[in-house]
Amino acid sequence: DDGPLVLGIETSCDETGVGIVRGTTLLADAVASSVDEHARFGGVVPEVASRAHLEAMVPTIERACGTAGIAPYDVDAVAVTSGPGLAGALLVGVAAAKALAIGLGKPLYGVNHLAAHVAVDQLEHGPLPEPVLALLVSGGHSSLLRVEDVTTGVDPLGATIDDAAGEAFDKVARLLGLPFPGGPHIDRAAREGDRVAIDLPRGLTSRRDLERHRFDFSFSGLKTAVARWVEARERSGEPVPVGDVAASFQEAVCDVLVRKALDAAADQGIEDLLIGGGVAANSRLRAMAEERGSKVGVRVRVPRPGLCTDNGAMVAALGAEMVARGRTPSALDLPADSSLPV
Ligand code: KG4
Ligand code: ZN
Repeated sequence: DDGPLVLGIETSCDETGVGIVRGTTLLADAVASSVDEHARFGGVVPEVASRAHLEAMVPTIERACGTAGIAPYDVDAVAVTSGPGLAGALLVGVAAAKALAIGLGKPLYGVNHLAAHVAVDQLEHGPLPEPVLALLVSGGHSSLLRVEDVTTGVDPLGATIDDAAGEAFDKVARLLGLPFPGGPHIDRAAREGDRVAIDLPRGLTSRRDLERHRFDFSFSGLKTAVARWVEARERSGEPVPVGDVAASFQEAVCDVLVRKALDAAADQGIEDLLIGGGVAANSRLRAMAEERGSKVGVRVRVPRPGLCTDNGAMVAALGAEMVARGRTPSALDLPADSSLPV
């Protein structure tokens, strides 16, 4: 690979990620997570995340350079997530990236976190098909995006109107007494359960809702329905069938995600669907998207789980693509923008 050597920094949530790529070749992907520090709160605490980024930043940069076998002054450019995300957390990454860019005399590229979730797939499956439809589902976001050119941004078609998909997984896991983050535990418990055991609502799929929210999601009603069902069960004195609850809940989430993603693909005339974000690691989501996608001629791309969750490699991948496509670097007063348009 003779593409540009780019170091990427990601600090939008609770992962301090530093990735190094050459063109579309991944050289290093160092991630330090503060997830354990948030576990007892059942969700990410912004102040705790910011402090953890501050402590992890320099060691993570050193670790990535060591793995890639490069010195910082070898890089052609520095890329960083400038938003969207937690304001204080973003600031730590943006400040570090500016310091590196200024110190090394290399260009700085501020990138959109959601576009980076899409660009990362190049590291695994080669050049990105464009336009591509992206379904990004994590603890912080649940969006359907049309991506015409990944280096110039993403067009949102829809998003969650309440909880993010990963948040719903985490809340239902908590209800079932499973550890945080709950997604992987629900995924595992669901394998022993019956997907049709409990009839659960599919948010925003009624004809009336589709008129206004065709490509939007809602998961809070589903979470409440699960809570009611579990409470009734507990009151009756019968044991809660954790596998059945997990499987039925997971089926309801995946059904809506895949149904709306394929409807959007048809609507937009796009034949490639990319799924990213932590929830893309879900085994049922992957299987269902591939199965239903193949029936309607939509190819499904899902990066491996380590690249789906927040990491620095995705930022480096998008930065390298910006250099390759001759995009203008960011000014050195690049702001961290927590509400950057998605
Ligand atoms: O992308 P990510 O690491 O961080 C952000 O939230 O931005 O995503 C974490 C989310 C958590 O809510 C976690 O429960 C969920 O992804 N998750 C899963 C699975 N693995 C992680 N959800 C469902 N099934 C999984 N296998
Ligand atoms: Zn993310």
